[in-house]
Amino acid sequence: MYANFVSSIDGIVALEGGTAPSGGIISGRNEADRFVMGMLRAFADVVLVGAGTVRAEGGRALWTPEYIFPAAADGFRALRHTLKRDGEPRLVIVSARGELDPSHRALQAGALVLTTETSAVRLRRVLPGVTDVRAVSGTDRLDVHQILDLLEADGHHRILTEGGPRLFGQIVANDDIDELFLTVSPVLAGQKGDRSFGLVHGVDFGRAPKHGRLIGVRRHGSHLFLRYRWERPT
Ligand SMILES: NC(=O)c1ccc[n+]([C@@H]2O[C@H](COP(=O)([O-])OP(=O)(O)OC[C@H]3O[C@@H](n4cnc5c(N)ncnc54)[C@H](OP(=O)(O)O)[C@@H]3O)[C@@H](O)[C@H]2O)c1
Repeated sequence: MYANFVSSIDGIVALEGGTAPSGGIISGRNEADRFVMGMLRAFADVVLVGAGTVRAEGGRALWTPEYIFPAAADGFRALRHTLKRDGEPRLVIVSARGELDPSHRALQAGALVLTTETSAVRLRRVLPGVTDVRAVSGTDRLDVHQILDLLEADGHHRILTEGGPRLFGQIVANDDIDELFLTVSPVLAGQKGDRSFGLVHGVDFGRAPKHGRLIGVRRHGSHLFLRYRWERPT
């Protein structure tokens, strides 16, 4: 399980209470960052995102390598072929309320939506047939372990999560993260109340922060590309 985010110098990844397409704004649509996003997608069986991220990115977004960095589409395809992962990584969306726009391009292209029993009934009626809807929970919140078990059972072993911060917070809280690819963009975003927030939102590790290990540092212009690893507790 690996994650990819772009943050401001002051640690902000989400703007306007999580309704803005924040990644592109924070990175300045930086070319190198988009290439890294594409490459990380190209390695994945699955791209896992929360519904908040899907809503914020707008109806035209896709979570494919080619969409984010078209210039390297041939290279991404060749990489996937070498990795014996033909086709695009599967987009998996987690949602309790099931508030997803059926006309969203990513849903029209085909995705997997993991949701509650109540939302599943409604979503199956309104979402395009190419999108699979599965009820994972009877309650409001899906258990992250259950999501990962389900993906594993479907044969998906290499999972990229692009957040957002609420979903990522639960993954980190469960000690389910192996690596984080973090781009630090040379901007200060500022913060007032809850309008902008950081990489992990909705959980607080208090005096027991989750210690990672820095295993890679690269720079492109003023953008910094960091790679961290976490050991899973035994
Ligand atoms: N800078 C970056 O790299 C980056 C990356 C990703 C996202 N973002 C930004 O982050 C903001 C969105 O933040 P966010 O924290 O709201 O995003 P999020 O984690 O993608 O979305 C939260 C939503 O996901 C669903 N969800 C999460 N965990 C769930 C669970 N265990 N069970 C059921 N549903 C679950 C819920 O959807 P329902 O409300 O439908 O129930 C919840 O409201 C946007 O501005 C986006 O652009 C930035």
